Amino acid sequence: MRLLKLLPLALTVLPSVLGVSLGVTPRPLVLWHGMGDSHASRAMVEFGELIAKVHPGIFIYSVYIEEDQEQDRRASFYGNVNEQVEFAAEQIANVTELQDGFDAIGFSQAGQFLRTYVERYNMPPVHNLITFGSQHMGISDIPACKPWDLVCQAARRAAKSSVYSHWAQTNLVQAQYYRDPDRLEAYLANNKFLADINNEIPDTHNATYAKNFATLNKLVLVLFSKDITVVPKESAWFGSYAPSDETIPGETTIIPMRMQEIYIHDTIGLKRLDEEGDVIFKTCEGVHMQLTEDCWRPLVKEFVGGAVRKTPSFRIQI
Ligand SMILES: *[C@@H]1O[C@H](CO)[C@@H](O)[C@H](O)[C@H]1NC(C)=O
Ligand SMILES: *[C@@H]1O[C@H](CO)[C@@H](O)[C@H](O)[C@H]1NC(C)=O
Repeated sequence: MRLLKLLPLALTVLPSVLGVSLGVTPRPLVLWHGMGDSHASRAMVEFGELIAKVHPGIFIYSVYIEEDQEQDRRASFYGNVNEQVEFAAEQIANVTELQDGFDAIGFSQAGQFLRTYVERYNMPPVHNLITFGSQHMGISDIPACKPWDLVCQAARRAAKSSVYSHWAQTNLVQAQYYRDPDRLEAYLANNKFLADINNEIPDTHNATYAKNFATLNKLVLVLFSKDITVVPKESAWFGSYAPSDETIPGETTIIPMRMQEIYIHDTIGLKRLDEEGDVIFKTCEGVHMQLTEDCWRPLVKEFVGGAVRKTPSFRIQI
Protein backbone atom coordinates (compact mmCIF):
# COMPACT_ATOMS: atom_id res chain seq x y z
CA MET A 1 0.00 0.00 0.00
CA ARG A 2 2.89 2.30 0.68
CA LEU A 3 3.64 2.49 -3.02
CA LEU A 4 0.21 3.83 -3.84
CA LYS A 5 1.20 7.09 -2.20
CA LEU A 6 3.54 7.63 -5.11
CA LEU A 7 0.67 7.86 -7.56
CA PRO A 8 0.21 9.00 -10.21
CA LEU A 9 3.88 9.82 -10.63
CA ALA A 10 5.08 6.43 -9.60
CA LEU A 11 8.72 7.27 -9.77
CA THR A 12 10.00 10.76 -9.42
CA VAL A 13 13.45 11.74 -8.40
CA LEU A 14 14.45 15.32 -7.80
CA PRO A 15 17.21 16.66 -10.04
CA SER A 16 20.58 16.32 -8.41
CA VAL A 17 22.10 19.47 -7.02
CA LEU A 18 24.89 19.28 -9.57
CA GLY A 19 22.50 18.93 -12.47
CA VAL A 20 20.52 21.94 -11.37
CA SER A 21 23.50 24.20 -10.79
CA LEU A 22 25.01 23.50 -14.20
CA GLY A 23 21.67 23.71 -15.98
CA VAL A 24 22.25 20.18 -17.31
CA THR A 25 19.86 17.35 -16.51
CA PRO A 26 19.41 13.84 -17.84
CA ARG A 27 16.63 13.56 -20.38
CA PRO A 28 13.50 12.26 -18.60
CA LEU A 29 12.28 8.72 -19.08
CA VAL A 30 8.85 7.18 -19.55
CA LEU A 31 8.31 3.52 -18.64
CA TRP A 32 5.31 1.43 -19.64
CA HIS A 33 4.88 -1.93 -17.91
CA GLY A 34 4.03 -5.23 -19.57
CA MET A 35 1.23 -7.78 -19.47
CA GLY A 36 0.24 -8.87 -15.96
CA ASP A 37 2.17 -6.06 -14.29
CA SER A 38 1.17 -2.62 -13.01
CA HIS A 39 2.65 0.85 -13.12
CA ALA A 40 3.79 0.91 -9.50
CA SER A 41 4.54 -2.76 -8.90
CA ARG A 42 7.57 -3.60 -6.83
CA ALA A 43 9.42 -4.66 -9.98
CA MET A 44 8.70 -1.36 -11.75
CA VAL A 45 9.67 0.77 -8.76
CA GLU A 46 12.88 -1.19 -8.27
CA PHE A 47 13.76 -0.90 -11.93
CA GLY A 48 13.22 2.85 -11.71
CA GLU A 49 15.51 3.03 -8.71
CA LEU A 50 18.23 1.11 -10.54
CA ILE A 51 17.97 3.46 -13.50
CA ALA A 52 18.23 6.45 -11.18
CA LYS A 53 21.52 5.02 -9.92
CA VAL A 54 22.85 4.96 -13.49
CA HIS A 55 21.54 8.47 -14.22
CA PRO A 56 21.37 10.42 -10.98
CA GLY A 57 18.70 13.08 -11.03
CA ILE A 58 16.67 11.53 -13.84
CA PHE A 59 12.92 12.10 -13.83
CA ILE A 60 11.05 8.84 -14.44
CA TYR A 61 7.37 8.56 -15.21
CA SER A 62 5.48 5.25 -15.21
CA VAL A 63 2.42 5.16 -17.48
CA TYR A 64 -0.82 3.84 -16.02
CA ILE A 65 -4.22 3.00 -17.44
CA GLU A 66 -5.81 2.70 -14.01
CA GLU A 67 -4.33 4.26 -10.89
CA ASP A 68 -5.39 1.28 -8.78
CA GLN A 69 -2.70 -1.34 -9.22
CA GLU A 70 -5.00 -4.36 -9.52
CA GLN A 71 -7.19 -2.52 -12.05
CA ASP A 72 -4.07 -1.47 -13.94
CA ARG A 73 -2.91 -5.08 -14.09
CA ARG A 74 -6.34 -6.09 -15.37
CA ALA A 75 -6.13 -3.38 -18.05
CA SER A 76 -3.09 -5.17 -19.45
CA PHE A 77 -5.47 -7.98 -20.48
CA TYR A 78 -8.82 -6.24 -20.97
CA GLY A 79 -9.43 -3.01 -22.79
CA ASN A 80 -9.27 -1.21 -26.10
CA VAL A 81 -5.61 -0.63 -26.96
CA ASN A 82 -6.30 2.37 -29.19
CA GLU A 83 -8.13 4.03 -26.30
CA GLN A 84 -5.42 3.04 -23.85
CA VAL A 85 -2.71 4.66 -25.96
CA GLU A 86 -4.85 7.76 -26.41
CA PHE A 87 -5.24 7.98 -22.64
CA ALA A 88 -1.49 7.52 -22.17
CA ALA A 89 -0.84 10.30 -24.68
CA GLU A 90 -3.10 12.68 -22.74
CA GLN A 91 -1.39 11.69 -19.55
CA ILE A 92 2.11 12.25 -20.93
CA ALA A 93 1.09 15.61 -22.38
CA ASN A 94 0.01 16.64 -18.87
CA VAL A 95 3.36 15.99 -17.22
CA THR A 96 5.37 19.21 -17.08
CA GLU A 97 8.72 17.47 -16.69
CA LEU A 98 8.25 15.65 -20.01
CA GLN A 99 7.44 18.71 -22.08
CA ASP A 100 10.84 18.97 -23.80
CA GLY A 101 10.81 15.32 -24.84
CA PHE A 102 11.88 12.07 -23.24
CA ASP A 103 13.32 8.62 -23.78
CA ALA A 104 10.92 5.71 -23.43
CA ILE A 105 11.15 2.05 -22.45
CA GLY A 106 8.32 -0.32 -23.26
CA PHE A 107 8.20 -3.72 -21.63
CA SER A 108 6.83 -6.43 -23.89
CA GLN A 109 3.43 -5.35 -25.31
CA ALA A 110 4.02 -1.79 -24.13
CA GLY A 111 6.83 -1.61 -26.70
CA GLN A 112 4.30 -1.52 -29.52
CA PHE A 113 2.03 0.73 -27.43
CA LEU A 114 4.80 3.32 -27.05
CA ARG A 115 5.56 2.98 -30.76
CA THR A 116 1.90 3.84 -31.32
CA TYR A 117 2.35 6.91 -29.16
CA VAL A 118 5.26 7.97 -31.38
CA GLU A 119 3.40 7.33 -34.63
CA ARG A 120 0.10 8.94 -33.67
CA TYR A 121 0.91 11.61 -31.09
CA ASN A 122 4.58 12.23 -30.25
CA MET A 123 3.80 15.50 -28.51
CA PRO A 124 6.03 15.80 -26.54
CA PRO A 125 8.43 13.79 -28.70
CA VAL A 126 10.28 10.58 -27.88
CA HIS A 127 14.05 10.75 -28.36
CA ASN A 128 15.15 7.09 -28.00
CA LEU A 129 12.67 4.23 -27.79
CA ILE A 130 13.78 0.91 -26.28
CA THR A 131 11.41 -2.05 -26.55
CA PHE A 132 12.11 -5.22 -24.57
CA GLY A 133 10.67 -8.44 -26.01
CA SER A 134 7.87 -6.61 -27.85
CA GLN A 135 5.49 -7.89 -30.53
CA HIS A 136 5.99 -5.42 -33.36
CA MET A 137 4.79 -7.89 -35.99
CA GLY A 138 2.22 -9.42 -33.67
CA ILE A 139 1.97 -12.89 -32.20
CA SER A 140 0.82 -16.16 -33.68
CA ASP A 141 -0.23 -17.60 -30.35
CA ILE A 142 -1.84 -15.95 -27.32
CA PRO A 143 0.81 -15.85 -24.57
CA ALA A 144 0.58 -18.55 -21.89
CA CYS A 145 -0.44 -17.49 -18.40
CA LYS A 146 1.06 -18.11 -15.00
CA PRO A 147 -0.92 -20.98 -13.38
CA TRP A 148 -2.29 -18.74 -10.62
CA ASP A 149 -3.29 -15.93 -12.96
CA LEU A 150 -7.02 -16.42 -13.46
CA VAL A 151 -7.57 -13.02 -15.07
CA CYS A 152 -4.97 -13.92 -17.67
CA GLN A 153 -6.40 -17.39 -18.24
CA ALA A 154 -9.93 -16.10 -18.80
CA ALA A 155 -8.65 -13.51 -21.28
CA ARG A 156 -6.55 -16.12 -23.04
CA ARG A 157 -9.45 -18.59 -23.38
CA ALA A 158 -11.68 -15.86 -24.78
CA ALA A 159 -9.03 -14.69 -27.22
CA LYS A 160 -8.24 -18.18 -28.46
CA SER A 161 -11.88 -19.04 -29.11
CA SER A 162 -12.61 -16.16 -31.50
CA VAL A 163 -9.64 -13.90 -31.85
CA TYR A 164 -10.92 -11.87 -34.79
CA SER A 165 -14.42 -11.24 -33.46
CA HIS A 166 -15.35 -7.60 -33.01
CA TRP A 167 -15.60 -8.09 -29.26
CA ALA A 168 -12.14 -9.63 -28.95
CA GLN A 169 -10.64 -6.97 -31.20
CA THR A 170 -11.92 -4.16 -29.02
CA ASN A 171 -11.78 -5.77 -25.56
CA LEU A 172 -8.95 -8.26 -25.33
CA VAL A 173 -5.55 -6.63 -25.39
CA GLN A 174 -3.58 -9.60 -26.72
CA ALA A 175 -6.10 -10.22 -29.52
CA GLN A 176 -5.39 -6.71 -30.77
CA TYR A 177 -1.86 -7.67 -31.74
CA TYR A 178 -2.62 -11.23 -32.83
CA ARG A 179 -1.49 -11.74 -36.40
CA ASP A 180 -1.93 -15.12 -38.00
CA PRO A 181 0.11 -15.28 -41.23
CA ASP A 182 -2.26 -18.01 -42.49
CA ARG A 183 -5.27 -15.76 -42.01
CA LEU A 184 -3.95 -12.40 -43.10
CA GLU A 185 -7.22 -11.47 -44.76
CA ALA A 186 -9.17 -11.90 -41.52
CA TYR A 187 -6.45 -9.99 -39.69
CA LEU A 188 -6.48 -7.08 -42.14
CA ALA A 189 -10.27 -6.96 -42.14
CA ASN A 190 -10.81 -7.15 -38.40
CA ASN A 191 -7.74 -5.97 -36.54
CA LYS A 192 -8.17 -2.41 -35.33
CA PHE A 193 -4.78 -1.89 -33.74
CA LEU A 194 -1.65 -3.63 -35.06
CA ALA A 195 -2.73 -3.68 -38.71
CA ASP A 196 -3.36 0.05 -38.41
CA ILE A 197 -0.15 1.13 -36.68
CA ASN A 198 1.84 -1.05 -39.07
CA ASN A 199 0.06 0.61 -42.02
CA GLU A 200 -0.68 -2.84 -43.40
CA ILE A 201 -4.21 -2.20 -44.61
CA PRO A 202 -4.07 -1.31 -48.31
CA ASP A 203 -5.30 2.17 -49.25
CA THR A 204 -5.51 3.39 -45.67
CA HIS A 205 -1.89 4.24 -44.99
CA ASN A 206 -1.55 7.13 -42.62
CA ALA A 207 1.45 9.22 -43.66
CA THR A 208 1.65 10.81 -40.21
CA TYR A 209 2.76 7.49 -38.74
CA ALA A 210 5.82 7.27 -40.98
CA LYS A 211 6.63 10.93 -40.56
CA ASN A 212 6.56 10.72 -36.75
CA PHE A 213 8.23 7.33 -36.45
CA ALA A 214 11.18 8.38 -38.61
CA THR A 215 11.89 11.27 -36.22
CA LEU A 216 13.08 8.85 -33.52
CA ASN A 217 16.74 9.26 -32.69
CA LYS A 218 17.27 5.55 -32.00
CA LEU A 219 14.90 2.60 -31.97
CA VAL A 220 16.42 -0.16 -29.83
CA LEU A 221 14.79 -3.56 -30.37
CA VAL A 222 15.61 -6.14 -27.72
CA LEU A 223 14.95 -9.83 -28.35
CA PHE A 224 15.20 -12.48 -25.61
CA SER A 225 17.16 -15.49 -26.88
CA LYS A 226 15.02 -18.12 -25.10
CA ASP A 227 11.67 -16.34 -25.34
CA ILE A 228 8.82 -18.84 -25.69
CA THR A 229 6.12 -16.43 -24.50
CA VAL A 230 6.26 -14.33 -27.65
CA VAL A 231 5.51 -16.50 -30.68
CA PRO A 232 7.59 -15.99 -32.69
CA LYS A 233 10.20 -14.25 -30.53
CA GLU A 234 11.58 -12.55 -33.65
CA SER A 235 8.54 -10.26 -33.51
CA ALA A 236 10.72 -8.20 -31.14
CA TRP A 237 12.83 -7.45 -34.24
CA PHE A 238 9.85 -6.96 -36.59
CA GLY A 239 10.03 -10.60 -37.70
CA SER A 240 7.02 -12.86 -38.28
CA TYR A 241 6.28 -16.38 -39.44
CA ALA A 242 5.90 -16.84 -43.17
CA PRO A 243 2.51 -18.20 -44.29
CA SER A 244 2.64 -22.01 -44.16
CA ASP A 245 2.08 -22.36 -47.91
CA GLU A 246 5.37 -20.58 -48.40
CA THR A 247 7.29 -22.88 -46.08
CA ILE A 248 8.37 -26.50 -46.10
CA PRO A 249 5.79 -28.59 -44.19
CA GLY A 250 6.85 -29.09 -40.59
CA GLU A 251 9.27 -26.20 -40.72
CA THR A 252 8.82 -22.61 -39.69
CA THR A 253 10.35 -19.77 -41.59
CA ILE A 254 10.81 -16.31 -40.18
CA ILE A 255 10.39 -13.30 -42.42
CA PRO A 256 12.98 -10.87 -41.06
CA MET A 257 12.34 -7.14 -40.75
CA ARG A 258 14.06 -6.15 -43.98
CA MET A 259 11.90 -8.59 -45.98
CA GLN A 260 8.59 -7.45 -44.49
CA GLU A 261 6.22 -5.67 -46.88
CA ILE A 262 5.89 -2.76 -44.47
CA TYR A 263 9.64 -2.36 -44.57
CA ILE A 264 10.08 -2.79 -48.31
CA HIS A 265 7.36 -0.22 -49.03
CA ASP A 266 8.40 1.83 -46.03
CA THR A 267 4.84 2.29 -44.89
CA ILE A 268 5.81 3.36 -41.38
CA GLY A 269 9.24 4.94 -41.84
CA LEU A 270 11.06 1.87 -40.53
CA LYS A 271 13.24 1.56 -43.61
CA ARG A 272 14.18 5.20 -43.43
CA LEU A 273 15.18 4.80 -39.79
CA ASP A 274 17.14 1.66 -40.57
CA GLU A 275 18.98 3.17 -43.53
CA GLU A 276 20.10 6.00 -41.31
CA GLY A 277 21.53 3.46 -38.88
CA ASP A 278 18.93 4.26 -36.23
CA VAL A 279 17.49 0.78 -35.68
CA ILE A 280 19.58 -1.09 -33.13
CA PHE A 281 19.11 -4.85 -32.75
CA LYS A 282 20.03 -6.32 -29.38
CA THR A 283 19.74 -9.79 -27.91
CA CYS A 284 19.44 -10.50 -24.22
CA GLU A 285 20.13 -14.02 -23.04
CA GLY A 286 17.22 -15.71 -21.34
CA VAL A 287 13.48 -16.18 -21.37
CA HIS A 288 10.88 -13.48 -21.95
CA MET A 289 11.62 -10.34 -19.91
CA GLN A 290 14.53 -11.90 -18.06
CA LEU A 291 15.99 -8.49 -17.38
CA THR A 292 19.42 -9.28 -16.06
CA GLU A 293 21.78 -6.47 -15.31
CA ASP A 294 23.95 -7.52 -18.28
CA CYS A 295 20.89 -7.00 -20.42
CA TRP A 296 19.45 -3.68 -19.34
CA ARG A 297 22.36 -1.74 -17.87
CA PRO A 298 24.42 -1.15 -21.05
CA LEU A 299 21.25 -0.14 -22.90
CA VAL A 300 20.11 2.22 -20.17
CA LYS A 301 23.58 3.70 -19.99
CA GLU A 302 23.82 4.32 -23.70
CA PHE A 303 20.27 5.17 -24.76
CA VAL A 304 18.64 6.70 -21.70
CA GLY A 305 19.24 9.93 -19.85
CA GLY A 306 21.44 11.80 -22.31
CA ALA A 307 22.30 15.25 -21.00
CA VAL A 308 19.86 17.98 -21.81
CA ARG A 309 20.97 21.55 -21.41
CA LYS A 310 18.10 23.75 -20.47
CA THR A 311 18.06 27.08 -22.20
CA PRO A 312 18.09 29.70 -19.49
CA SER A 313 14.89 31.64 -19.40
CA PHE A 314 14.61 35.19 -18.14
CA ARG A 315 11.53 37.01 -17.17
CA ILE A 316 11.65 40.74 -17.11
CA GLN A 317 9.22 42.33 -14.72
CA ILE A 318 8.07 45.77 -15.72
C1 LIG B 1 -4.88 16.13 -18.13
O1 LIG B 1 -5.08 17.37 -17.48
C2 LIG B 1 -6.41 17.87 -17.59
C3 LIG B 1 -6.42 19.26 -17.01
O2 LIG B 1 -5.83 19.29 -15.75
C4 LIG B 1 -7.35 16.90 -16.88
O3 LIG B 1 -8.68 17.35 -16.99
C5 LIG B 1 -7.23 15.52 -17.53
O4 LIG B 1 -8.02 14.58 -16.81
C6 LIG B 1 -5.79 15.06 -17.54
N1 LIG B 1 -5.74 13.85 -18.31
C7 LIG B 1 -5.05 12.79 -17.93
C8 LIG B 1 -5.16 11.59 -18.80
O5 LIG B 1 -4.33 12.74 -16.96
C1 LIG C 1 -3.54 9.86 -39.28
O1 LIG C 1 -3.10 9.79 -37.96
C2 LIG C 1 -3.18 11.02 -37.26
C3 LIG C 1 -2.55 10.79 -35.91
O2 LIG C 1 -3.23 9.74 -35.22
C4 LIG C 1 -4.63 11.46 -37.18
O3 LIG C 1 -4.70 12.71 -36.52
C5 LIG C 1 -5.20 11.58 -38.56
O4 LIG C 1 -6.57 11.86 -38.48
C6 LIG C 1 -5.00 10.27 -39.33
N1 LIG C 1 -5.39 10.48 -40.71
C7 LIG C 1 -6.27 9.71 -41.32
C8 LIG C 1 -6.51 10.03 -42.74
O5 LIG C 1 -6.83 8.80 -40.75
